[in-house]
Amino acid sequence: MGPPGAGKGTQGELLAERLGVPRYATGDILRRAVREQTELGREARRFVEAGELVPDDVVLGIVEEALARPEAGEGFVLDGFPRTVHQAEALAGIVEESGESLDAVLYLTVSEEELLRRLTGRRVCAECGTVTRPSDAAEGECPACGGTLVQREDDRPETVRRRLRVYRERTEPVLAWYDRSDVPVHRVDGEGPIGEVQARIRERLAS
Ligand code: AP5
Repeated sequence: MGPPGAGKGTQGELLAERLGVPRYATGDILRRAVREQTELGREARRFVEAGELVPDDVVLGIVEEALARPEAGEGFVLDGFPRTVHQAEALAGIVEESGESLDAVLYLTVSEEELLRRLTGRRVCAECGTVTRPSDAAEGECPACGGTLVQREDDRPETVRRRLRVYRERTEPVLAWYDRSDVPVHRVDGEGPIGEVQARIRERLAS
């Protein structure tokens, strides 16, 4: 968990790789659906592009489908989900039904100034989807495949402000909900070099 631009995708990918488990990022799944103009994409597009949350029932359908896959049986990293208290309650039900439990909630803390810097400077590859940091994006082409870098539709300044507001109103209460639950919540400083943030995460998970 963490506000927009906190590094959930960056760190979630490294963590999933390290643990050898799949990572399910609802934002990535929704953006792909929008790009491919599937039925889900057509339903989600106006919410994603406006920086509003996609309705709970749509997102829960995605997560239920992902967690039912055989590869999720050994564990998984969820990125960008749950984002509402209703989603958190539904996830608790899914996990309980499977006889498992959540190991941890990781919450990345980053100052608002740094979030704005990261989001307005982020560029993604139109070809392969690689996410670049503001400093890498200055090069103008994808460091992985040489493709064209573009700005995410919801990374425009006015949409970023709306995403931060939606985050405070709808997602911060989820953290308070987990604080009252049995699931351990780890707040990790998300600022500094990517490798250092990952080391902090692993240290907290090992403790
Ligand atoms: P989503 O894609 O989840 O967007 P978000 O939460 O706003 O998060 P971001 O992807 O912007 O940031 P991040 O925290 O992953 O940071 P990243 O690693 O990319 O969701 C998009 C939309 O989908 C939502 O607005 C909503 O409409 C919908 N949606 C998704 N899930 C939903 C749900 N559960 N319910 C309802 N609707 C849902 O890093 C950001 C930038 O910073 C990158 O350029 C990166 O390279 C750079 N960076 C990362 N770490 C560092 C560092 N340590 N130092 C410097 N730069 C860094």
